Amino acid sequence: MARILAIGIATLDVVNVVDGYPAENNEVRAVSQRIVRGGNATNTLVTLSQLGHQCAWAGVIADEPDGQRILKDLAMHEVDISACHLAHGKAPTSYVTLNQRNGSRTIVHYRDLPEYDFASFQQIDLRSCDWLHFEGRNVAQTEQMLHFAADNTVAVPRSVEIEKPREGIQQLFEHADILLFSRSYAVSQGYQDAEKFLKKMARQARDQELICAWGESGAYALSRDKQMLHSPAYPPAKIVDTLGAGDAFNAGIINAFLAGQTLEEALESACRLAGQKCGYMGMDFLK
Ligand code: FRU
Repeated sequence: MARILAIGIATLDVVNVVDGYPAENNEVRAVSQRIVRGGNATNTLVTLSQLGHQCAWAGVIADEPDGQRILKDLAMHEVDISACHLAHGKAPTSYVTLNQRNGSRTIVHYRDLPEYDFASFQQIDLRSCDWLHFEGRNVAQTEQMLHFAADNTVAVPRSVEIEKPREGIQQLFEHADILLFSRSYAVSQGYQDAEKFLKKMARQARDQELICAWGESGAYALSRDKQMLHSPAYPPAKIVDTLGAGDAFNAGIINAFLAGQTLEEALESACRLAGQKCGYMGMDFLK
């Protein structure tokens, strides 16, 4: 069992399950509704916790009932929240339309909460961690955190998720040992092909492992010695929910590396884990 710290967000997800995605300016009735905790970093931690790891979250909690609801869920999943801090604001909320015909998820996200900052991060005892995972957001502060982590915990691996194009996000690349790109980030950079995208990223990054999940096409990786690797996807018999599949994939990579697997093996286990998630409604797919 390893101790994993993730820095990023927790959200409230209002998930409306619909039978077919609605057209604009239409009115449809949801088949069902679930209100659950979400957010990339915490979804990854909740998955890792179910895999038997000791997980801790560093993020901001809103001082309102939805913030409490999020904390309750994290406590249920045994995620340590001692590095979090409370702030005045609204819990970041995602309004998710989940199409039960194909599991696609469309998200409208609203946030009005300060981001987790470097001053809070500096208070954490990083030496007790075996792995640090960062969401690529809040670039200036996250860059300081990565710098600080590199200086103070030389041997603790650092993964950084690059999911959305954000101003200056490339500044985070050099501080990571493993970069986890999303397909939507690759597309935002003008790539429809993961291999071409990773080769391009290799020119911007230093000598790291670069990984990019590609939905139904599985995932690709470029190793430190510039070998291109691929794993197919492992879809379940029926795809019911793709919300958080990328977060489960990231958990799969971290879990595999902690278990001493090679990059190629890690890619396959992460694809299997993400596939398993897609066959299940919600993030408690390993219980
Ligand atoms: C899924 C997710 C949701 C959250 C949204 C935030 O990856 O973390 O749980 O609402 O993305 O971007």
